[in-house]
Amino acid sequence: MWHKKTLRRGLAEGLFGFQLSVFRALAKNLAKAATKTGLLSSLISINMKDVSIVSPFFGASWSLNRIQKSLAALSVDNNPQEVASSVMNPNQESLENLLSEDRQFPPTAEFAEQANAKPELYDQAELDRLAFWDEQAKQLSWQTPWEKTLEWESPFAKWFVGGKINASFNALDRHVLEGRGDRVAFHFEGEPGDTQTITYSQLLTEVKKTANALIELGVVAGDRVAIYMPMIPEAAIAMLACARIGAPHSVVFGGFSAEALLSRIQDADAKLVITADGGFRKGGAFALKPAVDEALKGQHNVKRVLVVQRTKQETSWNTETDVWWHDIVGRQSADHTAEFFDSEHPLFILYTSGTTAKPKGIFHTTGGYLTQAAYTHRVVFDIKPETDVYWCTADVGWITGHSYIVYGPLMNGATQVMYEGTPDTPHKGRIFELIEKYGVTILYTAPTLIRTWMKWGDDFPNKFNLKSLRLLGSVGEPINPEAWMWYREVIGGNRCPIVDTWWQTETGGIMISPLPGVTATKPGSAMTAIPGISAVVVDDNGHAVAKGHGGYLILDKPWPGMLRGIWGEDERYKETYWSRFDGIYFAGDGAKLDKDGAIWLLGRVDDVMNVSGHRISTTEVESALVSHEAVAEAAVVGANDAMTGQGIVAFVILRGGIAHANGETLITELRNHVAKQIGAIAKPRQILVVAELPKTRSGKIMRRLLKDVAENRQVGDATTLAEPNVMRLISDGLNGSKDED
Ligand code: WTA
Repeated sequence: MWHKKTLRRGLAEGLFGFQLSVFRALAKNLAKAATKTGLLSSLISINMKDVSIVSPFFGASWSLNRIQKSLAALSVDNNPQEVASSVMNPNQESLENLLSEDRQFPPTAEFAEQANAKPELYDQAELDRLAFWDEQAKQLSWQTPWEKTLEWESPFAKWFVGGKINASFNALDRHVLEGRGDRVAFHFEGEPGDTQTITYSQLLTEVKKTANALIELGVVAGDRVAIYMPMIPEAAIAMLACARIGAPHSVVFGGFSAEALLSRIQDADAKLVITADGGFRKGGAFALKPAVDEALKGQHNVKRVLVVQRTKQETSWNTETDVWWHDIVGRQSADHTAEFFDSEHPLFILYTSGTTAKPKGIFHTTGGYLTQAAYTHRVVFDIKPETDVYWCTADVGWITGHSYIVYGPLMNGATQVMYEGTPDTPHKGRIFELIEKYGVTILYTAPTLIRTWMKWGDDFPNKFNLKSLRLLGSVGEPINPEAWMWYREVIGGNRCPIVDTWWQTETGGIMISPLPGVTATKPGSAMTAIPGISAVVVDDNGHAVAKGHGGYLILDKPWPGMLRGIWGEDERYKETYWSRFDGIYFAGDGAKLDKDGAIWLLGRVDDVMNVSGHRISTTEVESALVSHEAVAEAAVVGANDAMTGQGIVAFVILRGGIAHANGETLITELRNHVAKQIGAIAKPRQILVVAELPKTRSGKIMRRLLKDVAENRQVGDATTLAEPNVMRLISDGLNGSKDED
């Protein structure tokens, strides 16, 4: 009987998933914000003007029905073919509705007048793309100029060939040498309220000392260094110190588990781990070092562990390997001359979920990546380094933190806010309080946080003076028009342009976005490719679709910040990104062109879920589940979730002989098991125990049907199932359990 109870709970969560997910989201670490709603958020644009703002997500109930109807017609599945044909069929009601968003917000004359990027930028890039990128690269400081802008042997690119450059020199030394040493680089705010003001010259001194410490620890150019840190200045310092000596860093988000950390250490064959005793979050100290200790029980070649003392909590210590940051960095010389490396020298590896259980080590090199990070930060965020206070709320553990906290802004000499904690500690107005305190002018955040603020209510932002803001940015998922409008009105006081920026770990920098002084924006659309970038929406055969049609988003011309591969897996690199359309980069997203040629992102079309901004593959969670002794088989789907974009729903078949009596305990155990294997971010929202899974005759699990169940929709076409009764059994299970009430 117990499994019926579980199913009943599943049904209840399906019916009331919206409310439940709100509570769930409130209880979560919202600083890890950045979500990707996928299709739903785009569909939520249905007749926006008629949708009541009282219930900011779904508006009035009639619109919920319509959304469900549209979703049923257009269900996103894990099968790209099916997705594409549904996305591309322009006759579907939802696609028609998508086009009904006709509000436009051109920049004001004052903003346009002072903007870094003027309309001519598009023409310049169009005229000669490579010469355009040459111009952008020249804004950086190179020791040796490049001989060739691009060498393209599809799918392998080399940019600024022969040039020599150092990332840390461009981020720091250059500013100090040119007289900007006293400018604040970071206003750091710890969650407990401790603060640090770090100027460019102070940051340079710290990075030089840390670089010397790394050298003392035996790190040489080319060695990989794993960084597993909270959001504290030492995280950025560690990255820049690695870059300074040519040791590619591999930052592993602090929310990942010991197992996930170990697999990344192994894959990159890291020699050193930089971590902290812990950090502060939600009003208390959490520990990080124990996860490193746990990870290092496995096979690896890590020689030393460098530990920042952030919280002063009890920390177990291995005297052979562990060294305190303050001991070794503290006694280093503040002299270090940066060595210049080849433009194509690897700068970092960053792992991201793919469609298999094994994360992909996306690797980026130096010259091209830095060029695109600095250029996009300049033109998209309109940065005026002398006067702006810029704040990107991402964690350095994600690509947004790499490109738009560490590399882009520092290369441009920007002044930033860096915040350690969560947006609701000690109160829900924390972010707004800090905007007021530091006079933040540019805010870059994620739709999931914007929607959370909407739920918390206008009182929190209204309590603070947000008049310093002049530009707002969004990243991580399609932003639904309601959230976009709320962001504009309540946070931006109807005066700040919004840049909705589409890009990926793989692209290194922003690819599709409005230019804030040029583009008339539409709520919910990332608009068009920025100057220098080419993005096209194509049909199944790789042909560009006409305006008003949908398809796949592809990038048909190499760009400077593009990934150079998957670390150690060239074949996988070719197969993953370049095989769907021969020789053309397929991003994995569905998109639609509207009648004016603006791009509307529709979410992933592969087996990748987007949960609160984190890319997690269904296979990764399935493999974590089946690694538990009680589980025989598992199927995982990403179900729409109003707050987190998608929620993870797992269907599991238990092994024979597993006692049903302790069902609830088992479910909790399974959820914790996934958290242990991958990290808390991958904990399934729901786990449903089933007797069978729907499979095709060739044995492929039909996740599409499970998704219908998870989203409480009528189950779609099940005729290709090997065992046609399976879905009825699952549905009966749900209905049967309902009868028990
Ligand atoms: C999604 C984050 C719509 C998309 C920088 C992409 C977006 C994936 C947007 C990359 C946006 C990111 N509108 N969707 N503005 N930004 N995405 O690698 O599905 O963590 O493929 O990089 O997020 O996620 P990643």
